Amino acid sequence: MRKKIIIKRFDPESAEDSYLQAYNVDIAQNATVLEVLLSIKEEHDGSLTFRRSCGSAVCGSCAVTVNGVAILACHTQLSTVNWGEKDIHIEPLGNMPVIKDLVVNFHPFWHEIEKTMPWIEPKEEGERENVVTQEEAQLIDESANCIMCGSCFGDCTIRETDDNFMGPAALAKGWRFAGDTRDSLQQERLELLSEDGNMWDCTRCNLCIDRCPKEVRPMDQIIKLREEAVKAGITDNKGVRHVMAFQADIKNHGKLNETTMPLKTVGVLRSLGMIPMALRMQMKGKVPFPILKDIEGIEDVKKIYKIMGVEE
Ligand code: SF4
Ligand code: SF4
Ligand code: FES
Repeated sequence: MRKKIIIKRFDPESAEDSYLQAYNVDIAQNATVLEVLLSIKEEHDGSLTFRRSCGSAVCGSCAVTVNGVAILACHTQLSTVNWGEKDIHIEPLGNMPVIKDLVVNFHPFWHEIEKTMPWIEPKEEGERENVVTQEEAQLIDESANCIMCGSCFGDCTIRETDDNFMGPAALAKGWRFAGDTRDSLQQERLELLSEDGNMWDCTRCNLCIDRCPKEVRPMDQIIKLREEAVKAGITDNKGVRHVMAFQADIKNHGKLNETTMPLKTVGVLRSLGMIPMALRMQMKGKVPFPILKDIEGIEDVKKIYKIMGVEE
């Protein structure tokens, strides 16, 4: 099969900005994206630069973006890339600065991982090693599978708009250690990860679960972190206040009161800082009426809450 592959190129030594370069390539039926890149490099253009090492979805070095989706190049057959576009567009991972062609600078990614203290601080030393039961090991199994490929980080929708957000891989790593029964720092870890920019800033868009090639399911690990943080009594933060306000609105009215939500979440003082945005929204007719009318069937919603035993 002959296919047009369009690659986003960037040469730091040239005055040019990034540009697109097209290659017409003969591709074997089951060729992976990595094999296609290697064949372009060998047969068309030796200057094309990308990372790879193991070729077996182990080292995590070959992640790139294909037709807008972050993938592991050695783990993805080109024939499975069918996201609605005729040509194949290959770009570097998002949310990180580009060094050259498809190679990005992973410093922002590693910086976030480092913040999570990614090592075990063992509980007091005994004569025996710390025994972990199978059930306890299963709690952190998924998060321990991460190969640090950066695919989830590159496509995270919140990291794209907010450099302060830790991102999915680091939060999954956070759970890897906060959920480890051999560790002595669980409370400190949960407090750290409850700060602004961390576990509560994820909007649960699900993309990181979709992107992860190793079934780490980062968003699920973020939910585990949230549950453990609340159980540990770490509730004085805007994330928990937002969740509580959200569930109270639904329980009492069947829908959200978006006007009072910022007040309940960040408090009066910080809400004042949002006045310019509120005025702009007002001018565009986007400020909802602040007094909520209950939805039809609100009694049924309340019954659901009662059956679930959810109190405010
Ligand atoms: S679920 Fe959360 S962490 Fe995952 S991509 Fe979406 S915003 Fe980012
Ligand atoms: S969580 Fe998955 S997608 Fe994210 S860095 Fe780890 S292996 Fe890659
Ligand atoms: S080359 Fe190692 S994960 Fe793809």
